[in-house]
Formats: sequence, structure tokens, C-alpha cells
Amino acid sequence: MRDPKLREIDERAFLRRLDPMVDVYAAAMEPPSDQLPGRHTIMERHASYPGFRAFVVERRGALPMLASPVLGFAYGFHGMRGQWWHDVVHQALSDLEGPEHAETWLGDTFEVAELHVHPQAQGKGLGRSLLNALCEGRPERTAVLSTLDRRPETPARHLYRSVGMVDLLTGFEFPGGGPRYAVMGGTLPLAPYSPAPRRE
Ligand SMILES: CC(C)(COP(=O)(O)OP(=O)(O)OC[C@H]1O[C@@H](n2cnc3c(N)ncnc32)[C@H](O)[C@@H]1OP(=O)(O)O)[C@@H](O)C(=O)NCCC(=O)NCCS
Repeated sequence: MRDPKLREIDERAFLRRLDPMVDVYAAAMEPPSDQLPGRHTIMERHASYPGFRAFVVERRGALPMLASPVLGFAYGFHGMRGQWWHDVVHQALSDLEGPEHAETWLGDTFEVAELHVHPQAQGKGLGRSLLNALCEGRPERTAVLSTLDRRPETPARHLYRSVGMVDLLTGFEFPGGGPRYAVMGGTLPLAPYSPAPRRE
């Protein structure tokens, strides 16, 4: 495969790629298949949020095993009251350590909504490049996200720690049930890369 290309895409280009991006999401996360239409709808809605920004990595040459040219993608937006994730996490942080704590992290924040690399393309630096590109030059004070809280810890948790993100919530169950999540946050700009200790 020739070098894959990372590039920023606008809202329209994002919407045109929803199907292949949901395919990457499905391969990377392996969710129950009945959740995929809902993911599609959520991503479509997110594209209209303020401060929306997205990057894709696409292959340049043909690679027969992969039906889609999208190898990975990441997107986020300005987190605000009235957004479901923002309000749920704000309440949980307030309950845990008070409203000032919640405002410190969520008062001026970039929400990293999704970051996924197709399993056949993982471990080659694409995820780190996507995250760095996405957060580079953002005007917000912090970046926040949620990610699966599993043992042993996921590669995603290592990646986020390696750019200075810390745990804000762990073992967190979002309304409606489902797996436990960690909510992580870091101040912007992200810290330069330093290898994170791998935890079990
Ligand atoms: C998380 C993810 C996006 C990382 O993308 P990637 O291209 O594989 O990652 P990179 O090659 O850029 O590696 C970046 C860092 O991830 C971590 N990492 C990657 N593979 C790892 C592994 N097998 N074990 C532990 N950490 C790993 C490391 O911190 C690594 O940096 P380092 O090896 O230089 O210290 C990718 O693994 C993925 O899509 N996972 C499934 C979906 C997911 O969990 N998405 C995040 C949702 S919030």
C-alpha cells in the first residue's frame, strides 16, 4: 500500500463518507450490528454542531482486503450545554467534585467524539496522527472524550495518556446502560508525546 493520506474534511465531505466511516467504526469497535443505524444518525447530527472538525486517513492505492478507502477517521466539535454527552458528563462531574470542577473541564471544551482506525491499519501511527491533527490549533481550553473502560486497558487509553490526558470519570455508565466508560480530559494544546506507562 502506498502511504495513506491524512486530510481535513469539511462537513459535506464528512457526510458523503458516513457509510465507509461507520464501516471503520464497526470493524474497530465491533458493536452489536443493530446499533449501527443509530451511530450513523448520531454522526450525521454531530456534523451540524458548532466548531465541527474532522479528519480522515484514506488509502491511495488499491488494497483488495479493504472494501472502503477510509482507513481511519476522527472528529469533534465545541462542547456545549444542550448536547446529550456534555450534559450527562457535566452532571456526573458536578456530582463527583462540584460544579466548579465540571466547569473547569467542560466550560470551554473541544469534544473528541470519535477516533477509529481500521484493525488492518492499526499500530502504524495513524491514530496518533489523527488525534494530533484534530486537536492542533483548537481555540478551546480543554479536550475531553469518553472511551471504553476495560481490563486490560485498551490501546486508546494508552494513546490518550501519552498526550497528557487524565481520567475524569472511570467505570462510568451512561444513561441507557451499556459498557462502562472512562471520561478523559486534557488541557490544550495536548502534551508532546511521551510514552505512557502501560497499565493492566
Ligand atoms: C485507539 C486507536 C484509534 C489507535 O490507533 P492506532 O493507529 O492503532 O494507534 P497508533 O499506531 O497511532 O499508536 C498510538 C498509541 O496507541 C497506543 N497503542 C497502540 N497500539 C497499542 C497496543 N496494542 N497496546 C497498547 N497501546 C497501544 C500506544 O500509546 C501508541 O503509542 P506508542 O506505541 O507510540 O506508545 C485504534 O487502536 C482503534 O481504532 N481502536 C479501536 C477503536 C477505539 O478504541 N477507538 C477509540 C474510541 S475513544
